[in-house]
Amino acid sequence: MRVITTIKEMQAEIKKLKSQSKSIGFVPTMGFLHEGHLTLLNKARIENDSVVLSIFVNPLQFGPTEDFSTYPRDFARDQSLAECEGVDIIFYPSVEEMYPHSSSVRVIVQDRTDVMCGKSRPGHFDGVATVLTKLFTIVMPTRAYFGIKDAQQVAVVEGLISDFNFPIELIAVDIVREVDGLAKSSRNVNLLPEERSEAVVLYKSLTAAKNAIEGGERNPQTIKNLVSGIIHSETQGQIDYVEIYSYPQLKEIENLEGTCIIALAVKFSKVRLIDNIIITVRQEIGGEK
Ligand code: PAJ
Repeated sequence: MRVITTIKEMQAEIKKLKSQSKSIGFVPTMGFLHEGHLTLLNKARIENDSVVLSIFVNPLQFGPTEDFSTYPRDFARDQSLAECEGVDIIFYPSVEEMYPHSSSVRVIVQDRTDVMCGKSRPGHFDGVATVLTKLFTIVMPTRAYFGIKDAQQVAVVEGLISDFNFPIELIAVDIVREVDGLAKSSRNVNLLPEERSEAVVLYKSLTAAKNAIEGGERNPQTIKNLVSGIIHSETQGQIDYVEIYSYPQLKEIENLEGTCIIALAVKFSKVRLIDNIIITVRQEIGGEK
């Protein structure tokens, strides 16, 4: 496994792989790897000749009051986990390497950013799309792997790949959870012990929503109230949003039908956690159930 820190070296290495017609599986991350990331790497390993992992805490996607400085980092640990997953190259650039001067061009995401994290984190998806445009151009992957944990990010990346004609296949991977249901996240280590116990309510509330929908509930507002009520009663964490849309379009819906996302964000003292479930509700035909 090679660790490459410069864009120039990375481009030379990719050129070599391309000349050998090797397929490249790419997993972009901000590091502090957990089983969610490892699942993406494992899939990339199975499906490609070469696997590239990038580790870069991208300042562009953090707001001024967000957790860029306290975002967990441990490169030595990440390196050994990547080695175990059979990663070929870790691309580990510095901020200066990625952004050597104030940028003259930035990617602006226009669609599907007026809701969920796009609304509560202005500029976040522009930062994500900008760094991914750079990373896709440098790594030139055959396939790029993203987690449904960040479902809005997956939708935005779909748009980025399609609008900019990147010849990349996007592979979306299911959410990996802790045994108690909490979605794995690098940020979970910044929860206080009591918050960690309470955080299980995120998944619990989504499961209750799923059960209610399976029981026949079709009103998005009723489901949102159910989810918010459970979160309010079981944690001190503050709800940032509980929203329901069609997926991947992220459009408002009057009734739950087709493929929908129930997404939420909750703020704890030092971290904000997100979670979601995507469900497909079949249309009831002719009154039959
Ligand atoms: P990061 O939060 O490190 O996540 C890297 C990838 O791992 C993302 O595609 C994310 O959806 C996926 N992931 C995180 N937790 C997961 C879980 N519990 N189950 C499955 N997949 C999970 O997302 C980013 O970094 C950045 O925005 C990035 C795309 C690297 C751009 O800077």
